[in-house]
Amino acid sequence: MRGLVQQKVLKILCANCCRLVKVFGRREITHVRLLSESNRKLVLGIETSCDDTGAAVVDDHGNIVGDALNSQTRFHVQLGGIIPPFARDLHQENIENVVEKSLTNAHVKLEDMTAIAVTVKPGLPLSLLVGLTYAKQLALRSSKPLIPIHHMEAHALTARMTHGVRFPFLVLLLSGGHCLLAVAQDVDDFLLLGRGIDDSPGDAFDKTARRLKLKNIAQFASMSGGEAVERTAQGGDPRAFEFPAAVMSHHRHCDFSFAGLKYHAHKLIEKEEAKYDTAPDHIIPSAPDVCASFQFSVLRHLAQRLQRGFLFCDLKGLLDSPRTLVVSGGVASNQFIRSGLEKVCAAHDCSLVCPPAHLCTDNGVMIAWNGMEKLQRGIDLRHDVDSLDIQAKCPLGVDLREEVHKATIKLRRIKLL
Ligand code: KG4
Ligand code: ZN
Repeated sequence: MRGLVQQKVLKILCANCCRLVKVFGRREITHVRLLSESNRKLVLGIETSCDDTGAAVVDDHGNIVGDALNSQTRFHVQLGGIIPPFARDLHQENIENVVEKSLTNAHVKLEDMTAIAVTVKPGLPLSLLVGLTYAKQLALRSSKPLIPIHHMEAHALTARMTHGVRFPFLVLLLSGGHCLLAVAQDVDDFLLLGRGIDDSPGDAFDKTARRLKLKNIAQFASMSGGEAVERTAQGGDPRAFEFPAAVMSHHRHCDFSFAGLKYHAHKLIEKEEAKYDTAPDHIIPSAPDVCASFQFSVLRHLAQRLQRGFLFCDLKGLLDSPRTLVVSGGVASNQFIRSGLEKVCAAHDCSLVCPPAHLCTDNGVMIAWNGMEKLQRGIDLRHDVDSLDIQAKCPLGVDLREEVHKATIKLRRIKLL
């Protein structure tokens, strides 16, 4: 028995996952499997609908036990936009690593999962297919059920995990592909009040950033266009430039349009470039004012639609008290827009909830959580994985847009600045 030293075993809490850890001497670390843990439910979520490869493990108490993300933003910003075959290749390159990392971070194995959730709609078909194909392989290998997830429903439901928001609630989703205003009544029950009829707000931000050549500024090189515009706007005056007063303000519905604002920003930048005679790769000195004014015009449009949405809900008794508006999607991480929407909420006796910024943009956590909510209600647990397919387009919920229009709701002015 010479040379065998009795090592002291310490039990501490892991700083990453707050679970009990056995430490042998200085090196060996083992996560202790607690009795209660063997009963807990875990869902692995996989997201590849656009340009982020995300995976996460969430438990039935809404704890994020493992999370990993590979963002392609830097790559696409350099190319001036998302090129679907490139996005697919990057998903393919990274998906295995990302999923492995989420499981390793969680100190669990695939076999410990109760189910696997994956985004199947809406999104870029080539990107969606990578996630679904990989998830199918995992489900078959582990004999776990697969749960198909609607990307926008997942964005909407994240706030239930982060803030315990109860049904029904109003939700405004502002992303790179969508703009939606809906009432969430249950996990799989949404009423659509308004949606984007042309470009998305994220696209308007991205194209404005691109037209301003903001990526030529080193600190913005790997940032999304929206974030670059928000940062630039911080030094600007939102009233410096006049944008069309209110987009489609004469239409009394809740649909959104950003094409006009995008075009106006484009023309304004062209004019400013001519005025300052800027070199091709230079940025106009008035960029902060342009960004601030553009951002304000987006806010005004969103605020009008939201206001009408509240009044429609009042008319039809769709929201209970206390009322909550959830704002999510990439553009929801914009602080200027958030604080403006907060003013609309205050005027309508409602509290505003936004998930933390990293859960507003695309991620695996929201997919895992949506999977967990479906698991808990026994919705969409699929063992026939071969029959699952992707859908590039898929509307959210029951369409009430025509009813909103017919209600011809007039608005009163709310001070946003
Ligand atoms: O939800 P998301 O991550 O992906 C989609 O499903 O589209 O949204 C991405 C969009 C991009 O267009 C990006 O420019 C925008 O969200 N975005 C922002 C901000 N951060 C990201 N837009 C405005 N302000 C921001 N701070
Ligand atoms: Zn998204």
